[in-house]
Amino acid sequence: MRFTLPGLKNISVVLSAVLLLGFGCLNPLSAAAQIAKPRTFGDAAYQPKMGQVGKDVIWVPTSDAVAAMMLQAAAVTPDDLVYDLGAGDGKISIAAARDFGARSVGIEYNPELTELARRNIERAGVADKVRMIHGDIFKENFSEASVVTLYLLPDLNLQLRPTLLKMKPGTRIVANSINMGDWEPDRVLGSDEQDRAYFWVVPAYVAGTWNIKGMEASRDATVEIVQHYQKVGGTLTLYGKKQTILGAKLVGNHLSFSFLDHSDQLRVLDMTFDGRSMSGHVMENLPLYPVTANRN
Ligand SMILES: C[S@@+](CC[C@H](N)C(=O)[O-])C[C@H]1O[C@@H](n2cnc3c(N)ncnc32)[C@H](O)[C@@H]1O
Repeated sequence: MRFTLPGLKNISVVLSAVLLLGFGCLNPLSAAAQIAKPRTFGDAAYQPKMGQVGKDVIWVPTSDAVAAMMLQAAAVTPDDLVYDLGAGDGKISIAAARDFGARSVGIEYNPELTELARRNIERAGVADKVRMIHGDIFKENFSEASVVTLYLLPDLNLQLRPTLLKMKPGTRIVANSINMGDWEPDRVLGSDEQDRAYFWVVPAYVAGTWNIKGMEASRDATVEIVQHYQKVGGTLTLYGKKQTILGAKLVGNHLSFSFLDHSDQLRVLDMTFDGRSMSGHVMENLPLYPVTANRN
């Protein structure tokens, strides 16, 4: 929970800390250990304090294990450009480059953390792959990312959600500890609350009525798709008969569903959305024939 009323900054900070602890960024044992023997972070030039005030959320680093789990879930490769929003000391950005070969960018509001992250990037030997932007995640443009990582607060995730949903379909998003409200994750990561993270693939917008050309020996068909984030369903009208599509799945810009053909054979329609139209194949294990679809 974040308060924007003037004068409530301290309450915001305390609640931020409680939320982050409560949402499992630290397990209670390691939290107790922190109290018994404070861990130091940073370098000779700057030592950030766990829980120190940030613009919209305090600084608490993601654990190495959770960072690795998040990047693995996103299947990060050298082809990716990973943005960490609120990058702290740069650890996720560094791990993306060092352990997965990706290019990465961190956006961090705190200038001292930004400088520390830049030194950490040099020390990790990944300066050719990693860049730190000193800026505000609500002002900087991160639309070029193929993977976005976050460790923020519930209302910040919700504020970012419209921007994330406008990113290229197929962009992978991984959030430490905090979900995205009614945009359900594609996967929940971690074995328990202590190492919980959430994974999403940005879905294309495919809702509407589509005319499909090429179905069933050149006959046309119509499919009406309803969509709630990545969850899709609908009906297919073929030979004037309407049927509910089965097992509809949307992953990025890739839509597939099953239907019954004219002889009641179960077929799969598998199509890719290019931003305007869809094209693909009717399948029976292998592609049977090509189809194209245009929205009405
Ligand atoms: C919980 S920490 C996560 C740090 C890092 N992503 C990690 O997982 O280790 C959140 C970070 O966001 C930064 N931050 C808070 N509000 C910000 C904003 N509006 N723009 C950029 N960074 C912000 C804080 O300074 C802090 O470093």
